[in-house]
Amino acid sequence: MTKGPGARTFPRLHIFFTHYCYQIRTSPHHTCYAIPRGVVPEPELHYFCKPSALRPATHVIDFITAQELLADEPACQTLWELVSTQFRTRSKFLAVWAGARFVALHRDADGRADGFLLVNAPVNWQIDYVVVAPTARGQGVASALVLETANQAFLRGVPYVMLTSKASLRPLYEACGFVPVTAAETLAPAAPAGSTGSYRTLTPKG
Ligand SMILES: CC(C)(COP(=O)(O)OP(=O)(O)OC[C@H]1O[C@@H](n2cnc3c(N)ncnc32)[C@H](O)[C@@H]1OP(=O)(O)O)[C@@H](O)C(=O)NCCC(=O)NCCS
Repeated sequence: MTKGPGARTFPRLHIFFTHYCYQIRTSPHHTCYAIPRGVVPEPELHYFCKPSALRPATHVIDFITAQELLADEPACQTLWELVSTQFRTRSKFLAVWAGARFVALHRDADGRADGFLLVNAPVNWQIDYVVVAPTARGQGVASALVLETANQAFLRGVPYVMLTSKASLRPLYEACGFVPVTAAETLAPAAPAGSTGSYRTLTPKG
């Protein structure tokens, strides 16, 4: 293991996240995060974006590695608070966190982290857990987090950036250059070689 500043912090925070998830799963209050019976969950949309140019973000965003975030304990605590209070499935967070490579982070005027998103980056990137503190909402922070992530993907030659989100946030992601992938597009067969027909395909050109 490396001996950098995050080396001691990482196992502690991993235990921190794991411990809290265990508490949540075994807590009698756990069910308050489940969807109540009879309530239909909001539909989700899948989006993709092919980064093709730099687009200005209205806020300064730190784009750091997951390891660098783990070295910043106050930011980790804030992320955990937001995940705990703003999402129903905190246990899913641990699964996503395990694959997170980058974190986009916004800080307020006092340097406190108040907006996050996670990036899984095997080849194409996937954005997860876009979240902004309630006190910082409505000022374009989420848009800046997403735009900066797309910019970083462009700078690193990443072919596609994907995300899944509730349908009501479509204006947010479309304004950042993301296009919803409809069921028809997802299920349409790829065009046979040499075909000039009107098949829809997500295969990148060139
Ligand atoms: C959704 C969320 C990330 C938005 O953060 P934000 O910083 O307030 O968003 P922005 O200020 O960048 O909003 C940009 C645009 O997104 C859209 N938007 C933002 N929040 C929205 C909401 N709750 N419902 C519908 N559209 C919304 C609007 O079009 C907005 O533009 P406008 O301000 O000109 O109307 C924040 O409310 C949050 O953390 N919610 C809880 C967690 C969550 O639901 N995350 C999304 C996971 S799918």
